[in-house]
Amino acid sequence: MNYIGSKQTLLPFIEQVFRQVTNGSEKTFCDLFAGTGAVGRHFKRLGLRIIANDFQHYAFALNHAYLTINRPPRFANLQQQFNTDPVPARVSNVGQLERVLAFVNALPGITGFITQQYSPAGGRRYYSTDNAQKADAIRQALNRWRQHQLINEAEFSYLRCSLLEAIDQVANTASVYGAFLKQFKASAQKPLTLRPLALSNHVMGCQVFQRDANELIREIECDVLYLDPPYNHRQYGANYHVLETIAAYDEPVLTGVTGLRPYSRSRYCQPKAAAAALEDLIRHARAKHILLSYNDEGLLSLDDVTRILSLRGKPRRFATEYNRFKADNGRAYKRTGTVEFVHYVRVTTPAAASG
Ligand SMILES: C[S@@+](CC[C@H](N)C(=O)[O-])C[C@H]1O[C@@H](n2cnc3c(N)ncnc32)[C@H](O)[C@@H]1O
Repeated sequence: MNYIGSKQTLLPFIEQVFRQVTNGSEKTFCDLFAGTGAVGRHFKRLGLRIIANDFQHYAFALNHAYLTINRPPRFANLQQQFNTDPVPARVSNVGQLERVLAFVNALPGITGFITQQYSPAGGRRYYSTDNAQKADAIRQALNRWRQHQLINEAEFSYLRCSLLEAIDQVANTASVYGAFLKQFKASAQKPLTLRPLALSNHVMGCQVFQRDANELIREIECDVLYLDPPYNHRQYGANYHVLETIAAYDEPVLTGVTGLRPYSRSRYCQPKAAAAALEDLIRHARAKHILLSYNDEGLLSLDDVTRILSLRGKPRRFATEYNRFKADNGRAYKRTGTVEFVHYVRVTTPAAASG
């Protein structure tokens, strides 16, 4: 997923810093601003138990699937519905999964909220009518199947995540959902197709939350706290509002040409509030190590970050050159070089009392 601030390409750097500052005894890793879940998934692959959090619904949906599901679910009850000949679980789960995905992909499209609001039928062109109708059919089927216990929580989560990944691939946008393109681009005309998820290895007990980071920090404890808050004014709720509605499927009141839904504003995107929010978070963190991704173009200066981390120990800063892609005129993409930092503090000062 093309996500603002995604750390997908910075994973080797983050892991390198992690290895440099830890001693291998760490067991729990908290990804408090998890977004797509790229960082949590990476550290799950390394065998750590992950606590992930993000206040967006779509982020919760992605993280829940990738972190709490260790192998493709069996969909035993659902399979009885469409009359396949089930393969014994000990032989293969994958064959069953492919049949389930083929069944889901073949559901006849229906007109629901996604079609009415995000396709040409409602005057917006985020998705082709065919894809929007297919997404409505799948999303409604998931709710119905869950309600009638044809799928369990993991099976629901797996398919919802696969739908979000697939629908993002056929979105008719330049990159984010702040606007749709006037003409359908080639990728948006391809059929919506759910695919198997790339699940990582078996780690039990990962937890996923959809909470405000500053509230949750008062309730959790971990060995390594990884923080990747927004760096600038771009609110995720506004830039990914369509995915939010598909994840929640809650039919909110939409406004304006772009069909924006009401959303929570992050204090980390507000110049006057960001420093106080980070300071409050750092003061209350109960962790041995704190790693914070933040570059030198953000709302907080590097001095602000250093001052705040100093509240809990002696901060260090690791840097790497980073080439990021930036939308240019909504079509082409240009490369811009920048420096990315991981700020680190080995916690030596106790956390503030919760409250
Ligand atoms: C820079 S992105 C994280 C990207 C992520 N590391 C990745 O690789 O995909 C910041 C995330 O913080 C979330 N966020 C912003 N303010 C938040 C808050 N107060 N509580 C919880 N999540 C928040 C946003 O929804 C967004 O997904």
